[in-house]
Amino acid sequence: MNDLNLKRLHVAIIMDGNGRWAAQRGLPRTAGHRAGIAALRRVVERAPDAGIDCLTLYAFSSDNWKRPRAEVEFIFRLLRIFLRIETAQLSANEVRLEVIGRRDRLPQAVLEAIEKAERATAGGERMHLRVAIDYSSREAIARAAASAIEMLGPNEVSSIDWLGPCLGRALTAESGEVDLLIRTGGEKRLSDFLLWECAYTELVFLERMWPEFDATDLDAALDEFRHRERRFGGVPAVQECSQWPATV
Ligand code: FPP
Repeated sequence: MNDLNLKRLHVAIIMDGNGRWAAQRGLPRTAGHRAGIAALRRVVERAPDAGIDCLTLYAFSSDNWKRPRAEVEFIFRLLRIFLRIETAQLSANEVRLEVIGRRDRLPQAVLEAIEKAERATAGGERMHLRVAIDYSSREAIARAAASAIEMLGPNEVSSIDWLGPCLGRALTAESGEVDLLIRTGGEKRLSDFLLWECAYTELVFLERMWPEFDATDLDAALDEFRHRERRFGGVPAVQECSQWPATV
């Protein structure tokens, strides 16, 4: 068994395809989002036993505010229902919930539901579940840069050697970099999701629409991940030259 089989993983998922899944069935887009919640529940249930330590789900991007108001309101209503119904289960399963993204533009009731769920699940140690709401990776990077500049003195700020690690710490200290990113729904892009954290992430793009995604799909994606060779810019282990640079 190699290290990849033992390591607890950080997996991120772009849950795409709710609208198309619904359209294919002659249903309104909202029915797709409702079915998307059921898929989310299946995945969260399976994830800890599948070796996932941290699961980050893209539920609502900062660009999703461009959607029709009724759809946005529906997604937030679903989020509140999800939190109300699932918090006890998450807590019983020792899953710690955290919402990432901007909070200053969320409706008050949504904000309160999030804070309540986060408090109730704070002790969970089996898995860290991060749900990205009003999330933009560019915005998160800019925010981390602003706090780094505030924290560092003018001398350090001008040095990229300081700023890079400082940003890295701010963005990955708690959850680490992403090992595997899965995107359902057939599109092959990152859509402003975890750009820094995905520098060396393995990507799996699936045609399957999110509402159809289940535990078997998650296991298959993890299996594919475990068969990939991650070199992080290096070379395969057998070709490593341990004497560099002294003998060059
Ligand atoms: C992408 O499908 C999905 C979203 C933008 C929202 C994701 C929402 C859920 C899974 C349900 C809500 C979950 C929570 C926790 C609130 P799309 O609408 O872009 O589908 P399309 O690409 O087929 O149009």
